[in-house]
Amino acid sequence: MSEHSKNYSSEYAHCRENPEAFWLDAAAAVDWDVSPTRAYSDVDAPISRWFPDGELNTAFNALDRHVAAGRGEQIALIHDSAMLGAVRTYTYSELTMAVARFAGVLRAQGVGKGDRVVIYLPMIPEAAIAMLATARLGAVHSVVFGGFAANELAVRIKDASPKAIVTTSGGLEPNRNVEYLPTVHEALATAGATALPVIVKHRDGFATEPGSLDWNTVDWDAAMEQAQPAAPVSVRATDPLYILYTSGTTGTPKGVVRDNGGHAVALLWTMENLYGIGAGDVWWTASDVGWVVGHSYIVYGPLLAGATTLVYEGKPVGTPDAGAFWRVIEQHGVKALFTAPTALRAIRKMDPAAQLLEKYDVGSLETLFTAGERLDTDTFHWAGKVLGVPVVDHWWQTETGWGIVGNPRGMATLPIKAGSPTLPLPGYDLRIVDGMGTEVATGEEGNIVLGLPLPPGTLTTLWGDDQRFIDSYLRAFEGFYATGDSGYRDEDGYVFVMGRTDDVINVAGHRLSTGSIEQVVGKHPAVAECAVIGVADALKGQKAVGYVVLKTGVSIGAEQLQKELVALVRKEIGPVADFKNATIVEALPKTRSGKILRKTMRQIADGVDYKVPSTIEDMGVIEYLIPVLRPGKP
Ligand code: COA
Ligand code: AMP
Repeated sequence: MSEHSKNYSSEYAHCRENPEAFWLDAAAAVDWDVSPTRAYSDVDAPISRWFPDGELNTAFNALDRHVAAGRGEQIALIHDSAMLGAVRTYTYSELTMAVARFAGVLRAQGVGKGDRVVIYLPMIPEAAIAMLATARLGAVHSVVFGGFAANELAVRIKDASPKAIVTTSGGLEPNRNVEYLPTVHEALATAGATALPVIVKHRDGFATEPGSLDWNTVDWDAAMEQAQPAAPVSVRATDPLYILYTSGTTGTPKGVVRDNGGHAVALLWTMENLYGIGAGDVWWTASDVGWVVGHSYIVYGPLLAGATTLVYEGKPVGTPDAGAFWRVIEQHGVKALFTAPTALRAIRKMDPAAQLLEKYDVGSLETLFTAGERLDTDTFHWAGKVLGVPVVDHWWQTETGWGIVGNPRGMATLPIKAGSPTLPLPGYDLRIVDGMGTEVATGEEGNIVLGLPLPPGTLTTLWGDDQRFIDSYLRAFEGFYATGDSGYRDEDGYVFVMGRTDDVINVAGHRLSTGSIEQVVGKHPAVAECAVIGVADALKGQKAVGYVVLKTGVSIGAEQLQKELVALVRKEIGPVADFKNATIVEALPKTRSGKILRKTMRQIADGVDYKVPSTIEDMGVIEYLIPVLRPGKP
């Protein structure tokens, strides 16, 4: 017997048949300054306009309204730093005040409605405060993950042309302190933006002092003391809330644009219906604010819902051990945890029998949600067995901002099938099609596409480049958004997501473009040409591996070249690329038109069936490469 009042099939059908009614009903959970009278407008199609005549402020919805509702003393945010062994909490009143003050700091630097603010911060409360303060002013944030190097930060600064940058002295990794200021300094120089104000949250233990650099810095703490709190600025629902850059197939990242109104409505809907989380519940997303998962479910989703969100600065293992997650669940009474399968694999590798779990009481935990990469069945079964709670996969992307396929735990009790994130969520018209756009049969793998318009909260466009948005997502299959993933449906309609159809790879739940790594590898003076592919990795899902052909007459040792290429990728893209392997080869397999057969290479490396296109230039190259791609394997 279901304890739920809703039924998946009827909710899904209702949304399909009457999206206006469905989403206007969901929109009632938001506090609007001007209530929307319509859910959707196709006036700018194919660019979606959700709640076109609504006005609101997202930060007000995430903070002030909970205080007004009498929950000011409830904990809004817990910062648990496993790196420092410290915990800090903010009540809704305190967080509202901090955000209003920091909005005052930004305003004093000239930031207003529609202006951009680039945020380069690790997992500290100031990251959430800076995001919400930007939103409070009706401005647009662009958060850059701390594992990216100066060049990647520079590309994002150039594209977003911000009015200010917010950063800190540095971030804490288990094996080192990461100095942020030299990176920001270099990025500003590369972007030609050295005059921009840089607001710096001081942290002890870092070598570079802001004053030692010739730039326009503002001390976070001093500015907060003097700041006048700023009131929330009402914006149109269709105005942008943030830009989040993600890897495409080329070296230039795509600036995914999220609006205010659709985003608030969709995230609130998911907190209740997908995750079963409401006001007062303790919710923990173990990710990073630099990724979409962090935007949606560390910051906005839980705060919009009035829950308590946990900001965890640490790793699943090594901070100090593989019991870290269980310690956090016990200490803070976490009701639901959302993490990437990689984190679970890392814990399992260190503590296969989950002996460390015996030290903790994790009885508060009701559900474990995973996303970011495919949840392999071994990890699914292991986690379910050791934790004794449902392990619920869901599939989505930076572009959608929330689950496309999921098991809506707050709404219904749908059976969980290992290897499947379950069924399409309301608002997503999901089809599996062949290369010509024709739907394939049940059980047959194809391209996963989504009917237009996409539901609220999904990307509206790419920053400053509507044409690239159309070309990247809407051209391949007319009337549909191409997800770039392939998969199939079983006889119950359950979706199984198998992997990317393009050159995007997924390393430890981090999305990377092999094209951008190739661009960097190709810069090395010894390299004539190269291919970077993502090969299967037991811990991280995939890892990027490079195969390089040397320029004629160049002589360099394999070990030396690998060392130099690894250092180059780390410097140009950042440690997050986790690029550790490069092999010298005599040739790369190509089609007669010169296209490198990366997919065939990947299939050979992974030991799965591979197909060689008939257009291959020289079959001998494949025969030569097989033992190179699969060293020591049959
Ligand atoms: N700032 C600077 N460097 C960072 C960083 C950050 N925010 N995050 C990661 N890095 C660095 C790491 O220190 C590491 O550097 P190294 O090569 O010097 O060791 C490199 O980037 C690769 O990091 P990572 O992929 O995290 O690998 P790891 O071996 O350090 O840890 C796991 C392995 C599985 C523990 C880790 O990948 C993990 O916690 N994964 C969960 C992923 C996740 O939450 N993804 C979010 C998507 S939902
Ligand atoms: P990102 O935009 O970084 O969140 O990466 C999105 C991509 O990660 C998707 O297009 C998928 O390839 C992959 N992905 C995310 N979640 C899942 C999942 N639950 N199952 C399979 N693949 C996933």
